[in-house]
Amino acid sequence: MATPSIPAGGHGDPTRRDFLMVATGALAGVGAVATAWPFINNLNPAADTLALASIEVNVQPIQVGQAITVSWRGQPLFIRHRTPEEIKEAEAVPLSELRDPQTDNARCTDTAKKVRPEWLIQVGVCTHLGCVPLGNKPGQPKGPFGGWFCPCHGSAYDTSGRIRQGPAPRNLAIPPYLFTSDTLVKIG
Ligand code: FES
Repeated sequence: MATPSIPAGGHGDPTRRDFLMVATGALAGVGAVATAWPFINNLNPAADTLALASIEVNVQPIQVGQAITVSWRGQPLFIRHRTPEEIKEAEAVPLSELRDPQTDNARCTDTAKKVRPEWLIQVGVCTHLGCVPLGNKPGQPKGPFGGWFCPCHGSAYDTSGRIRQGPAPRNLAIPPYLFTSDTLVKIG
């Protein structure tokens, strides 16, 4: 005797049943996302808020010859407390020898135009293809010019963070910063 067959697409059809369940689940998900979106969107900082983001760093614990790396706007920021020798070396370089000519003084001036040669504050991102150069941590090679060295393709920066050798086209970038006291610096 023949078994009665269930019509295709009926409630007994496993394919249709699974589809209905998936479709219902997906709709519920879309509804939840649609409701949540205005709320989540309100929590996102506006682009201009992000662009203005600044940090404050206490540089007092950084001894002469030491450097620290902090994060600023998602990028590493190098802060080096330079030795008198490093400063002298940087100041002695003729601009004619530089690919991206910039005086050392100009690189150590805050937004209030105060020059603090002992502090070099710069973005730790190689201007070639964006690697993080070595030389900011103890024991790392500083390269042939005593500053930073990018092993990705061999760019070497001097004690002022200026490009001296290798494919990088520009000096390490200097962010806007302001010393609000002798030990506190606001960056950004
Ligand atoms: Fe630094 Fe290429 S990314 S040398």
